[in-house]
Amino acid sequence: MASQDELKQAVAKKAAEYVKGGIIGVGTGSTANFFIEELAKVKSKIDGAVASSEATAQRLRNHGIEVLDLNDVSPGDLEIYVDGADEITEHMHMLKGGGGALTREKIVAAVAQKFICICDQTKLVPVLGKFPLPVEVLPMARSHVARELVKLGGQPKLRDFTTDNGNLILDVHGLTILNPVEMEAQINQIVGVVTNGLFAARPANVLLLATDDGVKTIT
Ligand code: 5RP
Repeated sequence: MASQDELKQAVAKKAAEYVKGGIIGVGTGSTANFFIEELAKVKSKIDGAVASSEATAQRLRNHGIEVLDLNDVSPGDLEIYVDGADEITEHMHMLKGGGGALTREKIVAAVAQKFICICDQTKLVPVLGKFPLPVEVLPMARSHVARELVKLGGQPKLRDFTTDNGNLILDVHGLTILNPVEMEAQINQIVGVVTNGLFAARPANVLLLATDDGVKTIT
């Protein structure tokens, strides 16, 4: 049986096959880090990358890949965004933000033409919510947002972490998310929420899922 790191490496390699040129959107996390290693091998093909976090930007620069400001990139040039997920369903709805980069990830994903989600087999779930849902909040709204999340049936816990945007993360435990599109919108309506880790309104276009029988491509 392959180790989780071997599965992550295999799926990162597969994702590199989608790199044809232009500018590549790059996610955050351990699976995305394996993808950066693969991207470095084909860096001569691309014009640069857009990073979803400071950590990813630094890693890309360390590999000699130019990091561009998203504001200077036209959507036509950002063909793919490659990122991992904490959970994904067969409907391509994702729960993300375990690494705390959810807001920038969602922004880059919104601009990219195609979201390629790279996961090992442990991330595919029937229903989202076993993994605590990260919600990025403005610091002064922390208690208010936490109370509102309790009303939605969750148990928010403050993460000991500051985001790249200077905000806080509430990890919401105990949710069974049967309606991710509606819940994503509902949580974003709470005053003080910057964004939440449900990626349902803009789902993945391609799921590359690393299994013991090889990498499966699901569209
Ligand atoms: C970071 C994320 C990551 O994509 C998610 O946490 C998965 O990470 P990993 O590949 O390390 O399991 O959303 O904010």
